[in-house]
Amino acid sequence: EEEEFVTERVGSNGQQKRLPQCVIIGARKCGTRALLEFLGLHPWIQSADQEVHFFDNNSNYNRGYEWYKEHMPYSYPRQITVEKSPRYFITEKAPERIHQMNSSIKLIVLLRNPTTRVISDYTQVYYNKIAKGKEVDKFEDLVIDKKTNQINTGYRAVQISIYYNHLLRWLKFFKREQIHVVDGDKLITDPLSEINKVEQFLGLPSKVTQNNIYFNVTRGFYCMRTPKTDQKCLGLTKGRKHPHIEPSILRKLNEFFRPYNKKLYALINQTFDWD
Ligand code: A3P
Repeated sequence: EEEEFVTERVGSNGQQKRLPQCVIIGARKCGTRALLEFLGLHPWIQSADQEVHFFDNNSNYNRGYEWYKEHMPYSYPRQITVEKSPRYFITEKAPERIHQMNSSIKLIVLLRNPTTRVISDYTQVYYNKIAKGKEVDKFEDLVIDKKTNQINTGYRAVQISIYYNHLLRWLKFFKREQIHVVDGDKLITDPLSEINKVEQFLGLPSKVTQNNIYFNVTRGFYCMRTPKTDQKCLGLTKGRKHPHIEPSILRKLNEFFRPYNKKLYALINQTFDWD
């Protein structure tokens, strides 16, 4: 199967840049990078290395589809081009914009236990701020509204985890069958099963196997074997240790998300074991 892996050769052999036929729209911290990299193992998929931020950034969007296409990798006619920009998920205008570009596009959204996602989000922002020498707020100061002692719904990380609200907007423009929901927690523990479901969703033969993906004990995560390298793991900013959170706060968060989760399961006709 080795020969099926394409080598990037600019413009030759019928390779071109194409608008994506599939977009990973989010959600942030749910394993979007891992999924994109895993999908890149498939010989019929070409993925854009960088987040393009076309539909969520007005000045990028105003540059038009040619600009967007310019940011795509070269591909053969039968290959599928994939891009991921997790902010699309929460961007008000993104569903309409994507629909306008291609109403039959395939969308992938990763979801993860909403409480875990809030902590992961906090952890990322925490490290980014530390790196810039900025002060950081304590998790509980952000997540709990001091006045009411309830969950602070103004905290962005909490808002992103109310998946129901966001998916409701996407489903105004796209049919349910057009959106594939990946279990971000399962992607960590059993990536192959999630990848195989994506291959099926994209109408591709199953090509990613145990041979391409192995559990890396030192890293504590699954890593990849590619034709070029024996060991390709994600960067160390992925899979960072989360801080300890008081059980009472975890309970509050779980309780807060529970009704939204229930509504989400009904909306997408798919359940997760989050509660
Ligand atoms: P944590 O850093 O909280 O553990 P995103 O790429 O959307 O920002 O998601 C980051 C998350 O991807 C990480 O969250 C990590 O748990 C998860 N992940 C899933 N599979 C992974 C893998 N094979 N290697 C590293 N991180 C992975």
